[in-house]
Amino acid sequence: MKEVYNRVLDDPQWLNWMGEIDEHARVATREEYLCDHGQGHAVAVAERAMDFMRQIGEGEEDVWLAGVAGLLHDVGNAVGRDHHEKESVRMLSEDDYSFLKNLGMNDERNIERLLHAIGGHSDARDILDVVDAALVLADKTDMRKGRMLVSEEEAKKFFADLDARGQEYNKWVKLFVLNLYKVEDVNVSVVSEGLIVRYDVDDDFSLEFLEAWPKAIRVPWAVADFVERYFQLIVDGEEIPRIKYKHLLFP
Ligand SMILES: [Fe+2]
Ligand SMILES: [Fe+2]
Repeated sequence: MKEVYNRVLDDPQWLNWMGEIDEHARVATREEYLCDHGQGHAVAVAERAMDFMRQIGEGEEDVWLAGVAGLLHDVGNAVGRDHHEKESVRMLSEDDYSFLKNLGMNDERNIERLLHAIGGHSDARDILDVVDAALVLADKTDMRKGRMLVSEEEAKKFFADLDARGQEYNKWVKLFVLNLYKVEDVNVSVVSEGLIVRYDVDDDFSLEFLEAWPKAIRVPWAVADFVERYFQLIVDGEEIPRIKYKHLLFP
């Protein structure tokens, strides 16, 4: 599976998709395009997913399978943002999975696992496999200022322009995006009984980020549950008590 991973990185079709995603970002029409969904994000998610797999003690074949899932999860963004996870699956399934088979992925069970993880990466409602868990957790923890494609000033201007045009948007969207500029990094560590998500943030980071984007809680919570660990959230070195985010969990 490691060979498949390395072939993706050089694959002209994949690189082409990554280029198309960058193209959408250049004409940022919606807030998601303020942050990267292209090659940098794909590799970051792949590395995060593999790190998680190793931390929970999975074998190397599955580690690399999770890596491939990371590289491929967002290809649907080459078409558009809405339902892009389903679009990724459609693109990778075309012509009897020719893209995957050309990379040397011939094991049907692994193709099925890969596509299930990719199709479910937008939330954590359908985790059936460690690869599902690794991918969705990696994706939702790749939230950091280094992923932003524009400066904080440009992002503020993006929202100011929407305001000026009287275009409505949910206030939480702005809060979410602007807080990303205060996140240095998000790290996941798995210890014997716990899954710890650690946000390293700047002083002006607001915990309202969690209200603005409940997936920050829901996804690691569901993953922790799947791997039978308790979930612990640490922000700026301090553990956030469960009472502060319990209401954000799935009903
Ligand atoms: Fe995605
Ligand atoms: Fe993603």
